[in-house]
Amino acid sequence: MKRWTWLLMTFCSALATSCLTPRSGVSSSLGAVELGNARSTKADNPFTGARFFINPAYVESVEAAAAADQAYGELLMKVAAFPTAFWLDDIDALQNLSTVLDQALEQQAKTAQPVVPVFVVYNLPNRDCAAASSNGELTIEGRGEERYRTEYIDVIESQFRAHGSQRIVAIIEPDSLPNIVTNMTVPKCAASKEVYLRSVAYAISKLSMPHVYLYLDAAHAGWLGWEGNRAGASRVFRHVLNLAGGIDKIRGFATNVSNYTPLYENEGGRLDSSNPCPNEMTYVKELADDLEDVGIENPGFIIDTSRNGRAGIRKAWGSWCNIKGAGLGERPRVSPAELVDAFFWIKPPGESDGTSDASAPRFDPSCQSSDSAQGAPQAGQWFQSFFVELARNANPPL
Ligand code: BGC
Repeated sequence: MKRWTWLLMTFCSALATSCLTPRSGVSSSLGAVELGNARSTKADNPFTGARFFINPAYVESVEAAAAADQAYGELLMKVAAFPTAFWLDDIDALQNLSTVLDQALEQQAKTAQPVVPVFVVYNLPNRDCAAASSNGELTIEGRGEERYRTEYIDVIESQFRAHGSQRIVAIIEPDSLPNIVTNMTVPKCAASKEVYLRSVAYAISKLSMPHVYLYLDAAHAGWLGWEGNRAGASRVFRHVLNLAGGIDKIRGFATNVSNYTPLYENEGGRLDSSNPCPNEMTYVKELADDLEDVGIENPGFIIDTSRNGRAGIRKAWGSWCNIKGAGLGERPRVSPAELVDAFFWIKPPGESDGTSDASAPRFDPSCQSSDSAQGAPQAGQWFQSFFVELARNANPPL
């Protein structure tokens, strides 16, 4: 096995695990990607001149966590002031979608300023194909692809359409396209490839509207940072955007979703110097160049800073599950750096990455790695002791 292939096997995100071979499978299996004329993504940053939506349901979780902790209750309560994304992680979650949109509209009416909710569209058939902890409700066998369209995306579309006076941000399918770039030797990922491509393109084509700003998931530095992976990913993104009807359907890309890669520190240099992107800011800059090479111009980026405040806490860059010693990162903020539309807490701090109980369904061995906090509940469930650690380790401090 070549060294680079071996190295890439160890890197992944918090939502999927092993990242195998890079570029080789991409261009050949996609065929020639039609580049056409270079065109720009949707022009404006949706957060400019707006306020972030504070999700009352998340505030309740934080209040309950604070009430349950005598020593750090006051510190924990501070987290309630910050916005987090609302994950549409199954068909059932759509029951709350119009309520959330209405709540954002109410906040907007009070201040006469746009209030922007951020949603994560996360229910692909065969979801999380390279890992176990976030496997979803739909499979490619049976009617998964059809149900994704009719019972999931079409429902979101009609809700978004019914709320045309609000700016809405949606992050599209974390871990889906990056798995196509690096994980085609994982049988479940190989079997899912065409469905992922079609389904993500369908989601983009349906959800792109003048008031809706879409960001495609672009993994993080420790997964796609290598030249070959970045180039391969850019071609996959371009291919999907062609299928979806054009580059201007999206505003840009979301990176570091649910992961722990720091913004500026030289974490990658310590973990693997063969990766030219030692941190998330470098990755975003390099990826923007690769995207331009395939005609995707001027994308805006959202970087998930929910849990990347402390660098140097993992022994392997591929560790992604409830990393011990993690701390809240930069607070959500508009236009914090060149190319970046916002730092944002996409993963709600306190929600688990996956169960550490080997006998539970959806157990992934990564959640028992020596980098991972133990006693963890299922992905998405509240993990109290981890939440307390995140708040105590916040950098900048709360
Ligand atoms: C889980 C989702 C959850 C999300 C945010 C994912 O890992 O699979 O169910 O909503 O994390 O916590």
